[in-house]
Amino acid sequence: MWNGKRPILFGGDYNPDQWDDATIDEDMKLFEQAGINLLVLPVFAWAKLEPEEGKYDFEWLDNILNKIWEHGIHVFLATPTSAQPSWLSKKYSDVLPVDIAGRRRTHGMRVFFCVNSINYRSRARAIAEALAERYRDFPGLAGWHVANEYGTYCYCENCRKKFITWLKARYGSIEELNSRWHTSFWGRQIYDFDDVTLPTELNDDYRFCPAVQLDYMRFVTDSTIECYLNEAQVLKAATPHLPVFTNISGFIKKLNQFEMTPHMDFVGWDNYPAPGDDAAFPAFKHEIMRAARDGAPFLVAEQSPNQQNWQPYNKIKRPGEIRRIAYQGLAHGADSSLFFQMRQSVAGQEKFHGAFIAHSGFQTRIFREGCALGQEFKKLGSSFTGGRIRARAAIVFDWENWWALELTSGPTQDMDYLKQVFRYYKAFYTENIPVDIIKTTTKLDNYDLVVMPLLYMMKPGFDEKIREFVKKGGTAAATYMSGRADENDRCVFGAYPGPLKDVFGVWVEETDALYPEETIEIIMTGKEGDCSERQHTGKFLCDLFHAQTAEVLAVYGKSFAGEKEQECFYTGMPALTVNKYGEGHAYYLGCEPDESFMRQWILKLCEETGVKRLFAFEGKLELTCRENENGQYVFVINHGNSKGRVWLNEEGESPVYYSLLQDKEVKGVFTISPGEVSVLFRGRD
Ligand code: GLA
Ligand code: ZN
Repeated sequence: MWNGKRPILFGGDYNPDQWDDATIDEDMKLFEQAGINLLVLPVFAWAKLEPEEGKYDFEWLDNILNKIWEHGIHVFLATPTSAQPSWLSKKYSDVLPVDIAGRRRTHGMRVFFCVNSINYRSRARAIAEALAERYRDFPGLAGWHVANEYGTYCYCENCRKKFITWLKARYGSIEELNSRWHTSFWGRQIYDFDDVTLPTELNDDYRFCPAVQLDYMRFVTDSTIECYLNEAQVLKAATPHLPVFTNISGFIKKLNQFEMTPHMDFVGWDNYPAPGDDAAFPAFKHEIMRAARDGAPFLVAEQSPNQQNWQPYNKIKRPGEIRRIAYQGLAHGADSSLFFQMRQSVAGQEKFHGAFIAHSGFQTRIFREGCALGQEFKKLGSSFTGGRIRARAAIVFDWENWWALELTSGPTQDMDYLKQVFRYYKAFYTENIPVDIIKTTTKLDNYDLVVMPLLYMMKPGFDEKIREFVKKGGTAAATYMSGRADENDRCVFGAYPGPLKDVFGVWVEETDALYPEETIEIIMTGKEGDCSERQHTGKFLCDLFHAQTAEVLAVYGKSFAGEKEQECFYTGMPALTVNKYGEGHAYYLGCEPDESFMRQWILKLCEETGVKRLFAFEGKLELTCRENENGQYVFVINHGNSKGRVWLNEEGESPVYYSLLQDKEVKGVFTISPGEVSVLFRGRD
């Protein structure tokens, strides 16, 4: 293992089970040249490692691991359990999953097993044990990577039985289950636990019974945790000093990562921004991942050195793009920059997926960029790893709320929680104001401002937390679609936002859905807490709400369908309010505002609460600051086409920073070229 602190982990997935010795030897030299310090393998090699039940063939892997270690490269050893061998699917009928239409799937895909299958689990555990036994003392072993991107939903009879056990444990009695699922609607009473059926496509059940679907998603998350622990516990027992984790798919919705990742030593996630994505979007996803383990440094477990194969249009990465993507992860709290993959495969589904060593070889732009990155990472060493980000503002993100909001039929088909929360995040991001994404369980003591977009599901205790927070002087901001349902998706009577009505000083009477081409004016009333411009545009949903104790800061103006003005009976009703509650303030926003409103409003909230941007700046810059025992590391990424500037001086002082990549001292106004990145260090005074 590394002596002392882990450096930035650089490298990633290597699938040598596809290659002959000569290729592997060549790869080793290239990896060394590129400064790669970590490989993840053998992710998909179960069929090769265990060609027959209980008969292992590890020699080829021994050889490869020895070569890797001879070159001073560490490994995260992967349990190869995401792609089971054909004998396993064939021999045990419970291994292959059943889909939501009730069809038993056939063998041949990866992540294609029932997470509750006894036989899958027993063979997966056996190979994890065999690997742990054989490699626990391997000197290059830096950690364990369990399976790959869990996420299968299975609807087999075995899962149904386990779901029933899970429901019994959660709800105790059939009466309680009927009440929680409100089965009196459409006469869906369940007389006996054994009658519980799974969400199914056959009668559209999954669309019309959100409470059941919601619990099924919780159950699948819990089952996947068990499935992960089935292997992880074996590995941990063999090597208690080494980290164990699994990589999380970039399509993160299906499993509740806030529940899963506390069982791991790292959050490790796969970051695949789509070509043309707003740079703020991957930043937002990094923040969600950072939130999963309460701000602890995480891993970028995969990203692509070049184009992917699975986007609709797979743009090659532009010069410098990989570097910006890599530093963005580090800037937001990652301690690694791992890639999928090292060598492009000859054939198969992913033959056109980018890799450091491509079909065209290594005399390539991409390999050169990889090498340059490796050199920089060597220079940075372990300087900022372990560093944390400090923020006084927070945005609440809740996984189950995500599920519930999008399972809900009405008021609009366009509900996209991730995109909605992103709009709020982007306002902070664009201004370079540090903000944490937080869970509903996060303590609020460290924050001055808490924004809770579309918090439809009000979990027990969260309302009290917000109440206390505001009472003690905090500022909270809630929006349309808030405080409507409980954990089982049962709505509150007595108007939204339910238990927080008095804190926000409003009650919501109705919610109008706008057609995509419809907009409504938001007119500021000109009072305290206002945006600087008077008129803005809203869309998507409009809460028709009444200010009880709250003060009205904006009202709905005229309504438009495209360019054309149309009748609107709620013109003049509140669109934005603020309520003084205890020592603090609670804002309620009734509709989705345009970007300029959002920025001005968030800025205003920050100003009122004393939440500051990192530095004054000019240009399309992304700025973050990580802090560890050495001091502060300011990341500067210029996403723009022109020079950017950062004013490093603070109220009268002009501290000296050291630019780690450019090797020079900087102070005062720091200038950064288009597309460039910098890491500026300031030691503890
Ligand atoms: C995922 C998987 C990898 C690979 C990449 C391709 O993240 O974990 O095995 O398929 O996608 O982008
Ligand atoms: Zn199943």
